[in-house]
Amino acid sequence: MNGIIIGLGYMGKTHLQAYASIPKSRIVGIVDANKAQADLVAKEYGCKSSTSLDSALSTCKEEGTISFVDICLPSPFHREAAITAMDYGADVIIEKPLAVSLDDAIAIVKKAEQLGRRVMIAHVCRFMPQYDYIKNVVKSEKFGKPLFFGAWRQSEVPGWSKDNWLHDRSKSGGTIMDLMIHDIDIANWLFGSPKGFAATEVGHPNHSGCSHVVTTLKYANNAYASIEGGHLMPDGYPFLSGFRLVCEQGAIEWNTVHNKPGSIVEYSKGNAGFVSMENETPANPYLNELNHFIHALETKTPFKVDLQEALLAVETVHNLLASMS
Ligand SMILES: NC(=O)c1ccc[n+]([C@@H]2O[C@H](COP(=O)([O-])OP(=O)(O)OC[C@H]3O[C@@H](n4cnc5c(N)ncnc54)[C@H](O)[C@@H]3O)[C@@H](O)[C@H]2O)c1
Repeated sequence: MNGIIIGLGYMGKTHLQAYASIPKSRIVGIVDANKAQADLVAKEYGCKSSTSLDSALSTCKEEGTISFVDICLPSPFHREAAITAMDYGADVIIEKPLAVSLDDAIAIVKKAEQLGRRVMIAHVCRFMPQYDYIKNVVKSEKFGKPLFFGAWRQSEVPGWSKDNWLHDRSKSGGTIMDLMIHDIDIANWLFGSPKGFAATEVGHPNHSGCSHVVTTLKYANNAYASIEGGHLMPDGYPFLSGFRLVCEQGAIEWNTVHNKPGSIVEYSKGNAGFVSMENETPANPYLNELNHFIHALETKTPFKVDLQEALLAVETVHNLLASMS
């Protein structure tokens, strides 16, 4: 299955490396506004390089049908690339978030419906065994009804994005859209569509895109989620994420720093136990995600991240932002 990747920054390179170990996929073209960078990477991976998606779609034709386009551009450019790819006739995977503005998100969804194209949003946490585990705990009611999902995700002030687009809220949507949407999507995946929204934000003095945010989401089944996220931690702070799921008869905790690698902790009936996740799936969640995307295209089976769910995540962020004003 032939594909093109557009946007060869941090995520584009991560995806490119992952496809190299997925036998059913072949990246035939890469696109980046930075020509020198695109040429260098294309040489290394034996594919064609372009500075626009239109020209990549036409120059890569000789390699055969282009089945998919993988969009790893800064978030405000997702819409234009997704529409170009779908108009050409390709299916699409887009890095999270689906889009920054609701208009862009809805336009992508409508285009996919109108043309019958398949679009998956790369909400990578769904491809990590720890999150899969709690999804099954909630679904099976292993510990009774779920009451609360708390999640947190913190990093240094981002210094890695091209021209610091992550520092500008008008481009990234801010910390809540760029970073916290990972956990917001998981909360919705566990509990459904939220009905109540509250958020408090402390901003960075110089960078509108970076803040520390605490949110509460209320769900119809009387479950609550509280998501905390921040781009304000000092230099040297290790990227940290984790969660706590509290149910009627048990609780589960996990985080990236303090737990045994690959394990979660379950507390129930007076006992605490580590549950290893190490043998669940290969350790690289991006590889799991892209393997799933290619497999679902090939077998015409549903994506684990439904496009309406990705739209719900963007709508939830906008509702939380509205609750602050
Ligand atoms: N899933 C995750 O864990 C995760 C992590 C980081 C970023 N992301 C998402 O991935 C996307 C990309 O983020 P990133 O961190 O890789 O960004 P980045 O700044 O590292 O890279 C963006 C790349 O796109 C190129 N580019 C910019 N505008 C372009 C255009 N119009 N045409 C062609 N190329 C263009 C830039 O030259 C750069 O190489 C964003 O949507 C972001 O939210 C997801």
